[in-house]
Amino acid sequence: MKAAPDVLAARLLAWYRADHRALPWRLTRDPYRIWVSEIMLQQTRVEAVIPHYETFLRRFPTLTALAQASEESVLASWAGLGYYRRARMLHATSKRVVSGDDGEWPRSYSQMRALPGIGDYTAAAIASIAFDEPRPALDGNALRVLSRMADERRDIGAGPARRALGGTAKDLMDAVPRGSRGDFTQALIELGAVVCVPRSPRCERCPWSAECSGLAAGSAPRLPVKAARSVPRRVNLSVALAIRDQRVLMRQRPSDASVMPGFWELPMASGDASALFALGFPSCVEGEELGSFAHSITNTQYTVRVYLAEFEGSLRQDQRWVSAREMSGLPLSTIGRKALQVARDSGVAAVCGGAAGAA
Ligand code: ADE
Repeated sequence: MKAAPDVLAARLLAWYRADHRALPWRLTRDPYRIWVSEIMLQQTRVEAVIPHYETFLRRFPTLTALAQASEESVLASWAGLGYYRRARMLHATSKRVVSGDDGEWPRSYSQMRALPGIGDYTAAAIASIAFDEPRPALDGNALRVLSRMADERRDIGAGPARRALGGTAKDLMDAVPRGSRGDFTQALIELGAVVCVPRSPRCERCPWSAECSGLAAGSAPRLPVKAARSVPRRVNLSVALAIRDQRVLMRQRPSDASVMPGFWELPMASGDASALFALGFPSCVEGEELGSFAHSITNTQYTVRVYLAEFEGSLRQDQRWVSAREMSGLPLSTIGRKALQVARDSGVAAVCGGAAGAA
């Protein structure tokens, strides 16, 4: 990078202000609304977040409204976004802030960083956008841009490259005039999202192309360098759809489960249909397969098959016969939601109707 940080910062800001995507969270300085957007955007694409963001904020327009809501209603409003731990964390953190000393959202990076579920990136994004604090927020987009600008060839997941890019980002942010730090954060994300994109960067449209060492060296499309991930584990799951009096047999996950605690799902077992025998579904051995779908959780890829099944056991404490109407008010696990969709697509009447609202 040859130009001084203030020149680069001014050029990026001018580029951003001339044109950028009109995203709903760019119309506010309310730290609550920015927080919600950043948490939703953590594992989800912008286009998928927009409708959920607007619905969620209509339902919970303020931090206090979120803190006063029941966990079930928060989880139900999160349906479709996945990674429900984020919704639980939003809810728990809102309660903690509202019941704290002044009941207000904290105004500095350091105070936000001390809240559960708020990491470096999120605290810096909220601090710069809502409070104009000069904290660079480095998400994947920003890291890609900076690693190309510096022709950084070390693993960006590791300390040395992170520290170097963090230093560059801080120099740039320190050169941004007061009142523009939030725009700078958005601009760096925007540059990575629409111009400095992963495989085929559109360098001809980039305000920083003249200064980009990765472009000059021809390495930009291959940056950043990320250490190889381990090979995913593959697991088969069988799910039983049992129906009695227009109700579906469902189970609530234990409240201390590490994944989706308290969520509702259909009975399921690892392995082929015969694995359902032990759960009270003897007919599943040659049961009718309604369909299947793929689902990934971190490094495991599941192939999930859904079987229409007769339940011949007695109900366990965590099980219940649930009507389609009741289902719409329950937080459903992602696998449960996808399995019910398979059943709906096969025309199973007991899961049609009210259930669609939960998906
Ligand atoms: N990804 C993460 N934060 C974002 C933001 N504020 N705007 C667009 N995409 C983002």
